[in-house]
This record gives sequence, C-alpha cells and structure tokens, in this order.
Amino acid sequence: MTRVFSGIKPTGPVHLGNLLGALQHWVTDQAEADSVYCVVDLHALTVPQDPSVLRATTLELAQVLLAIGIDPDVSTLFIQSHVHEHAELSWILECTAAVGELRRMTQFKDKSEGAEFVSAGLFTYPALMAADILLYDTDRVPVGDDQRQHLELTRDLAIRFNGRYGDTFVVPEAAIPHVGARVMDLQHPTRKMSKSDDSPQGTILVLEDLRSVEKKLKRAVTDTETEVRYDPEAKPGVSNLLAIQAAATGRRPEDLAAGYSQYGPLKVDTAEAVCELLRPIQARYAELAADPAGTADLLAKGADKARAVAAPTLERARRALGLLPH
Ligand code: TYM
Repeated sequence: MTRVFSGIKPTGPVHLGNLLGALQHWVTDQAEADSVYCVVDLHALTVPQDPSVLRATTLELAQVLLAIGIDPDVSTLFIQSHVHEHAELSWILECTAAVGELRRMTQFKDKSEGAEFVSAGLFTYPALMAADILLYDTDRVPVGDDQRQHLELTRDLAIRFNGRYGDTFVVPEAAIPHVGARVMDLQHPTRKMSKSDDSPQGTILVLEDLRSVEKKLKRAVTDTETEVRYDPEAKPGVSNLLAIQAAATGRRPEDLAAGYSQYGPLKVDTAEAVCELLRPIQARYAELAADPAGTADLLAKGADKARAVAAPTLERARRALGLLPH
C-alpha cells in the first residue's frame, strides 16, 4: 500500500491556504493510502516561542486536524516531539546535507532576512523535515507549492545516503495539487496567504467567525478591469478568488470563470463556498475542544503507532552508517 506522510507547524492558527493546499488532500488520501500525519512542534522551535502559547497551539492544531476529518483509527496522527527518532535521524541527515544546499533554500533566505535572531535550527530545518518523511518509508508527500524545494532536497538526501551506504530510504515524491497549491493573500494577491499576522485582512482562518470570513472575501482586492478570467499573472486577485472557490468545491477555476461577468457575484459565491467548507469543521472542532484529555489520549496512541514504523527505519540507517548496535 502507498505510504503518505505530511506535517504542519503549530506556529499560528490554521488558515485557508493550509486547508486548500494540503490538509483537505490529507483527508482524501486516507481512503487509499496508509497515511501518517504529524504536528511538527520541533520545527516550531526554529523561531522563539512562548511555551504556553506553543502548548495551546499544538493541541488546537491536532484538534483542527481531527475536525477536518483525519480519522485516527484509519491514519496515524501524532506530535513530532513524541517520537524521538525524528530528532536522531535529523542529526544523521544534517551530516548528509551540504551547507551549500541548505543555503540555497528560499524559505531560509526569506525567513532569515532582516531577522534579529537566526537560529542554527532555522538553517538545518530541511534536514529535520527530510527525517520526518524518510522515517516512514514515504512514497508520497501532499504539500502546498512552497514546500517543493524542501521535497527536492529530501529526495537528494535519500539518494545520496542510499548511494553512500546502501539502500536504506524510500525516495519520496511531492504531491502538489493543481488548484489551491498557492492560496494568495486577499489584500496582497501576489504574496501567499500565511500564518504570520501582518495581514489579518488578507488571511482567512479555519476557525474564524464566518461573518468575518464573508466580509474579508467580499473586500478582497481585485483589479480595475471588470472581466472575470483565470489568469494568475495578469489578474492575481480575481484568479485567487477563482482558485479558492475551485479548490473549495472541487471544480476547475477556468470553468468557474466562464460563469461570471462581474466581480460581485464571484465574491459572493466564493464566500458562500468557503463558509460551507468551514461550517462543519468549526462545529466538530467545538466538540473536540471540550475534551482535551480525549485528544491527548488519541495522540499518545498515534505516537506509539508512529514509533513502531520509525524505530526500525532509524535502526536500518544506524547500521548502514556503522554505528555500533546497542
Ligand atoms: P506549514 O506548517 O507552513 O504549512 C502546512 C501545509 O500548508 C501548505 N501551505 C499552503 N498551501 C497553499 N497555499 C498557501 N498559502 C499555503 N501556506 C501553507 C504548506 O505547503 C504545507 O503543506 N515545512 C512544513 C512542515 C513540515 C512538513 C514535514 C511537511 C515539516 N515536516 C514533512 C511535509 C512533510 C511547513 O512549514 O508547513
């Protein structure tokens, strides 16, 4: 059976980009693949975190994943730091990666530029991400477009390790959706929607009040023309709305565009489609949030299931490298 693995950082509330670019595919993948999903709390530590906020955000994120439909009886859902094999394989892969290739990572460049404090972990971040993926003999990794370069690096590291020490890791493929892979900010449609809170009007949160969701979509930036056309280069704002509605309804943005001659109805329908998508998620989340102990229990079982796969893979890598068995 195909193995799917993916992860998400608990560094802020889950937004519509996360949902449309990655998380909704996690849910559909469960039906046909052996799926492993992880809240990557160690990755969150690459920038300073307030401990109580990190604790709350990690639990909330796990509950959002359950609310969108990740079924812990079908998939493996766990917290990265609960399975120490991730940190150990990460070290091994840091020693497999070259400084030059880590320096080329555009996310590192973006996140370190102008930052007051740049941790060494931010630089080696992709090695930990590669460890996450390779520990589970992963075939396919459903992610948004911004993770493409990290996936390429993961493949390069697996191939290099296998070449040096013998076949140890499965070489994974990225699975990037055709629509929704790069949901853009509603106010600045040439930059991606993100967790950082510098553009609250441009970001839709999965747990946001639906009246506010509707308002933000209706106030989304478009352009001075009036034609509705799917053309992300020339018409980024309109195309973003079409892509959002398409990803939320499972249709093609080009087909949707043909049904509109004005921006107003496009915004109204997009707002409705997004609210339809979020409403049941928010209702399930409210139930789950009332039972944190139940979630903790599910996550502990998830970590046990994950470790049963991760430990033998790490052992294989240790032996291949010549580390003495213990
Ligand atoms: P993270 O936490 O930033 O985002 C989680 C997922 O959401 C996707 N995404 C988007 N998709 C479309 N449009 C957007 N505007 C948008 N913003 C985010 C991301 O591509 C991602 O799929 N490094 C990863 C976490 C990670 C991981 C892994 C992923 C750690 N280990 C192993 C896969 C496999 C990250 O920071 O994602």
